Amino acid sequence: MARQMDPDDLNPERIVTVFGGTGFLGRRIVKRLLERGFTVRAASRHPARVALVFSSITRMPEAVEADILDASSIGSAITGSQAVVNAVSLYVEQGVQTFERVHVKAAADLAAASRDRAIDQFVQISGIGSDPQSDSNYIRARGRGEGAVESAFPGAFIVRPAVMTGPDDAFLTTIVRMIRLLPVYPLFGDGGTRLQPVYVADVAEAVSRLIDGRTQGSSIFEFGGPRIYTYKELLREIARQLDTHVKLMPVPFAVWNALAGVAELLPAAPITRNQIDLMRQDNVAAIDAPGLKELDIEPRDIDEVIRAIEQRRRVGSLSSPA
Ligand SMILES: NC(=O)c1ccc[n+]([C@@H]2O[C@H](COP(=O)([O-])OP(=O)(O)OC[C@H]3O[C@@H](n4cnc5c(N)ncnc54)[C@H](OP(=O)(O)O)[C@@H]3O)[C@@H](O)[C@H]2O)c1
Repeated sequence: MARQMDPDDLNPERIVTVFGGTGFLGRRIVKRLLERGFTVRAASRHPARVALVFSSITRMPEAVEADILDASSIGSAITGSQAVVNAVSLYVEQGVQTFERVHVKAAADLAAASRDRAIDQFVQISGIGSDPQSDSNYIRARGRGEGAVESAFPGAFIVRPAVMTGPDDAFLTTIVRMIRLLPVYPLFGDGGTRLQPVYVADVAEAVSRLIDGRTQGSSIFEFGGPRIYTYKELLREIARQLDTHVKLMPVPFAVWNALAGVAELLPAAPITRNQIDLMRQDNVAAIDAPGLKELDIEPRDIDEVIRAIEQRRRVGSLSSPA
């Protein structure tokens, strides 16, 4: 379990490298760390996106070009850092980019390179439900990745968020759009899977508090939102907030799997088989795992996010790291 650190240990000049620092979660982690006075490197394969992603903030992170699959670019990105965060995602396997390669081997390589450089803290972003024994390639790789990181960097923080929401998310935004568009809404199975959507900015704040020295020790944190919904309840709640009705239709998982297999052939797959795997099992924070409460964060509910999504739809705005 995490324990409090002496505030005198904090060093506002510390450098933190965030792999995946331009992503949905990573950009918020970068922003929170900058607000806490850290020097932050946002490492990704497309550093030119940094200027766009952080255009609305005054203090910019350093843009660093790095591929987590490439040992030499890892080394130069993290040298001189005191903390490293791995917020790299891979949702669809493509060529050499397999779940095993990115979520297990590359995560372990980054953790080992951080340990070799005597970096103080390592944060691995994983996900609730990660399980090295799972039948799903994706969920198994996430579980194996956690173990590989813990072996390579003893004392690493493993952060498992539930499905994350935000004004520019892929989850609620799609549901809102589909509820408005479809006469009948297809459920995953019978819609009974339990979810605990968590606001992405709350997760980013939590990660920044871990790095800011408020906690220490080897811990797995599970971050969920304030309410647990079945998928069916969530759709009804969103429809209620949109002031509309939704007609629900159960669709077997086997049908979804077949559809996702075809969708993955598209350049930007609207749905993937790993998302279907994730929807088969409850995605809820364990009661006995440390979470947002232990970091003094009051989680925000989905109503705020739905309002922001609707606002973005009306004005057609681009994403910002809010
Ligand atoms: N989104 C959710 O609801 C959710 C829920 C639970 C857990 N998670 C986990 O949270 C983490 C972040 O997810 P996200 O949704 O924020 O991902 P995302 O929006 O897809 O962002 C991924 C980031 O990783 C970078 N990246 C991808 N491949 C890379 C590589 N080979 N080398 C270096 N950088 C690379 C991307 O930039 P470039 O493409 O420019 O390299 C981008 O900055 C992931 O581990 C994900 O599984 C997400």
